[in-house]
Amino acid sequence: MASMFIAVPPPRIPAAPSDLGQPAGHRQGGRSADVEIIVSSNGSDGSPFAPAPPSSPADAPCPMTSTPGPVPQPRHAPATLRNRDAIRSVLEQVLAECALLLEIASGTGEHAAYMAPRLPGIRAWQPTDASTEALADIDAHVQAAAATTVRPALALDAAGSAWPVGRADAVLCCNMIHIAPWEAALGLFAGAGRVLPADGPLILYGPFRRHGVHTAPSNAAFDEGLRARDPRWGVRCLDREVLPAAMAASLRLDTIHAMPANNLIVVLRKASRE
Ligand SMILES: C[S@@+](CC[C@H](N)C(=O)[O-])C[C@H]1O[C@@H](n2cnc3c(N)ncnc32)[C@H](O)[C@@H]1O
Repeated sequence: MASMFIAVPPPRIPAAPSDLGQPAGHRQGGRSADVEIIVSSNGSDGSPFAPAPPSSPADAPCPMTSTPGPVPQPRHAPATLRNRDAIRSVLEQVLAECALLLEIASGTGEHAAYMAPRLPGIRAWQPTDASTEALADIDAHVQAAAATTVRPALALDAAGSAWPVGRADAVLCCNMIHIAPWEAALGLFAGAGRVLPADGPLILYGPFRRHGVHTAPSNAAFDEGLRARDPRWGVRCLDREVLPAAMAASLRLDTIHAMPANNLIVVLRKASRE
């Protein structure tokens, strides 16, 4: 699967001036991040990234559906169907070989259930979530998908200091740091710093502001909705909030991958000892 290096993908909607609008094929370093944004081609299965519908500018804050009926069904997060191949494609590049992936805030578990069987280089996938209700959903989706490399879900509050997993080769966290108090992000960085080996990656997926500015009007509207729902939530600024906090926890920025629907994957790595 080829990757091309350009500043940003063709915007779906008018974009903020900070990062978008560069012609395809152009390669440009990031701003203060001093790292280029990588735009991957479509997933290796050839399916195009499905754009988010206009009503869902970014992945909405855990909109989950459950099917009513006599037998309770695990909840379903529709956004996972839209973003899973794009995320998988980046994981394929970043995690060619990985003995244990620790996923934080797995939600319904649909990312684990779908991606783990398609990423054989990840030999074990440990899903977790702070919500005990989510744990049953995760296990049900994993069982239905017969995703044999996925372990039973564990309760893990990213904000806490007692994580039930002491070592992991990689940590993945999709769509949590904007839908949780900032303490969850700080706990995530501290925890990743504890469990990862030197150069081990912490992979973040979600919407971010850049240099204090939203990258799309849809993300600004999404942010407003998040903050109205809980003032402690909100789309974080990669340059002014996330990276300084991550660096304070001995993580360094590796790569930034532009994703569909104005999201990013940010790969941080545990700094090597001096
Ligand atoms: C928007 S959902 C994302 C789920 C999934 N990663 C995805 O992308 O579909 C946010 C998840 O973060 C979890 N969460 C919120 N605060 C958390 C914390 N402090 N530690 C761990 N998980 C947390 C919620 O329970 C929820 O499952």
